[in-house]
Amino acid sequence: MSANPNGPEFDQYAKQYAELLNDPIRARFASGSAFFFERKWELLVNYMAEIGLDPKKAAWLDVGCGAGELLRLGAPHFAKAFGCDLSTEMMKACEGLNVTPHTDRGELPFSDGSFDLITVVCVYHHLEPPDRPLLTAEIARVLRPRGVACIIEHNPFNPLTQLIVRRTPVDENAKLLMAGTARALLAGADLGANLRTTYFLYLPEKLYRKAGYLESWLANVPAGGQYAVFGRKQ
Ligand SMILES: C[S@@+](CC[C@H](N)C(=O)[O-])C[C@H]1O[C@@H](n2cnc3c(N)ncnc32)[C@H](O)[C@@H]1O
Repeated sequence: MSANPNGPEFDQYAKQYAELLNDPIRARFASGSAFFFERKWELLVNYMAEIGLDPKKAAWLDVGCGAGELLRLGAPHFAKAFGCDLSTEMMKACEGLNVTPHTDRGELPFSDGSFDLITVVCVYHHLEPPDRPLLTAEIARVLRPRGVACIIEHNPFNPLTQLIVRRTPVDENAKLLMAGTARALLAGADLGANLRTTYFLYLPEKLYRKAGYLESWLANVPAGGQYAVFGRKQ
């Protein structure tokens, strides 16, 4: 599938997005995409509880929200929840959610200091490396002081992740980033307070349901299928 030179890359994938993610390894790992979002949501809930951030009093922005799966899961728990994305076609699946399109890849359509939590899930590997600090600076701008930024990404150290990414059409132009690169991006944008990295997606869904606690033992081992990097604004 070639990139559309006239619009956001993901507009061309939106209609068949779920099918384009189909992969036999992914299908053996989990019964559907819901499990992957459930795991991300759990990480966010645990982190917020740990730092004493009450979502009922907080405003959340999910940058590059795509079809809004994470946003749909988390929004009912927040005082306010918003998503934004370059692809209006992807956001057609976001009915009932508070989502805003934006046209400039380096500029977020929100005022300074609007959010307590900003998540960016599987977006940075679709950005050209020089564009990454620009988006991170924007995230810093729209976060409140002591607000939390969370980057969730595929872990390039995990061989199954590498294999799935290599054969997934929507990842044709993907450039995976290591957790250290995500941490450096946050630190470089003044979001480097209390940096924390958690590796997850070690256990397939069936095993996770029985022995999920094992994943917390492995959270610092850089081998999980994905990782989350959390940082706070100074
Ligand atoms: C792989 S999808 C991930 C969507 C969603 N976060 C998820 O986890 O399902 C990547 C999304 O990032 C969006 N995107 C890419 N660059 C962006 C940017 N600079 N600002 C906002 N969204 C962007 C794409 O349009 C696409 O919807």
